[in-house]
Amino acid sequence: MSKQGFPADFLWGGATAANQFEGGYDEGGKGLACADLFSSGSHTEPRRITAEIRDDLFYPSHDAVRFYDHYKEDIRLMAEAGFKVFRFSINWTRIYPTGMEEEPNEAGLQFYEDVFRELAKYGIEPLVTIAHFDVPLYLTNEKNGWASRDLIDLYLKYCATIFTRYKGLVKYWLTFNEINTATLSFGNYLSLGIRHGESDFLHQEDRPSERYQALHHQFVASAKAVKLGHTIDPDFQIGCMIAYMPRYPRTCEPADVLLAKQTEAMHSHFCGDVQVKGRYPYYAKNYFESQGIQVDFAEGDEEALLAGTVDFYTFSYYLSLCASADPAYANSGKSVIGGAENPYLPTNDWGMQTDPVGLRISLNDLYTRYEIPLMVVENGLGAFDKLTADGHVHDAYRIDYHRAHIEEMRKAILDGVDLIGYTIWGCIDLVSASTGEMAKRYGIIYVDKQDDGSGDYSRLKKDSFYWYQKVIESNGVEI
Ligand code: BG6
Repeated sequence: MSKQGFPADFLWGGATAANQFEGGYDEGGKGLACADLFSSGSHTEPRRITAEIRDDLFYPSHDAVRFYDHYKEDIRLMAEAGFKVFRFSINWTRIYPTGMEEEPNEAGLQFYEDVFRELAKYGIEPLVTIAHFDVPLYLTNEKNGWASRDLIDLYLKYCATIFTRYKGLVKYWLTFNEINTATLSFGNYLSLGIRHGESDFLHQEDRPSERYQALHHQFVASAKAVKLGHTIDPDFQIGCMIAYMPRYPRTCEPADVLLAKQTEAMHSHFCGDVQVKGRYPYYAKNYFESQGIQVDFAEGDEEALLAGTVDFYTFSYYLSLCASADPAYANSGKSVIGGAENPYLPTNDWGMQTDPVGLRISLNDLYTRYEIPLMVVENGLGAFDKLTADGHVHDAYRIDYHRAHIEEMRKAILDGVDLIGYTIWGCIDLVSASTGEMAKRYGIIYVDKQDDGSGDYSRLKKDSFYWYQKVIESNGVEI
């Protein structure tokens, strides 16, 4: 097979999220976001959510790895790696500290403008996630987050502010990170800002009708944001972002095949179908009925969804899942998403079954379904890196992981898929979203920040940095 494949303007780069990367949680007028109340945890001990900041707990988002004051150095390193694009999120509470203010916080707006101008110096295209797991805490406390329809207008006010201010500096936007997180119970707190009492992150009471209603509010908000963005700047490209996980049947027994298709439809395809096609897919009705879920559409919602379909489809890809209708295997997998274990794939320390070929399968399936440009905006290997005494991180395992996925992307492009970019997750080490650890590192750049909060935030290039630099320089030929 030819080594070519990647188009000349392919967007190679890296991705981060404000609450896991930025720090400065109470600086520059920023308000508290839900993520600021997520304590640290580990792969064996879940994070906790507290109602207020407590002295006896450690909250990793507060300082994260301090992109807030390291951004010039970080962007210089990205430029050295050859990044064409940098995906990161704007923290809603830096712009509207409670979400309710009439006027935005100028210091917050200025911070991101400085970041955009710094990126522009190096010709790096920003790809901005408007909401990445960071609902303003005030909106959780006062309105139960996205369960309230009020959040649609509050979100649109925030969008109008940043679209207007950053017109000319930003072209690519994503409305919500991994919007389909809301199809699972942990979406309550993580992406929807719904909190019932003080229970911990993984175990709070789940009310599916409320959760899907909140997701519906996000769909409407996203569609209206797309329309608004195009009015403010017709050149804006506004996309969706899905945590995409293909589901395989564990065997070719029809019951396994059916279950795989049904779970893939509701958890991986449902949100993309709404955001790309502008309407709820037929299969949702049956699912809602079988689960006793009620979603109310307000007048005008149907039209709004249709008028605000996305320009491109982006997704995170870490793992594939497996479905078994046989109770002996149904929940034998170790991932937090559940499902059966796939006997053909390796499992990492966090229960994920990595699957590069699954990426080619996904790209083909998605392109067949939507026929709009696709971008892989998260892919990476969380691992315990070892810093050697002489200051190196020899992360051959990470290079192998990315190489295998890049090779499958190339094949998908040669299959005919319109893939326009790839941003590796956590390009600079950051806090893990699920566990709150620093020890689960994804970066090609190491940050001296440890789980107990120690470290001087110095940055260091891992072996994977030099490897990725060559990949980008050769446009994917030298991998
Ligand atoms: C995605 C999120 O789910 O996966 C990121 O968009 C997250 O915020 C990433 O960090 C990796 O997951 P984790 O739990 O290892 O950080």
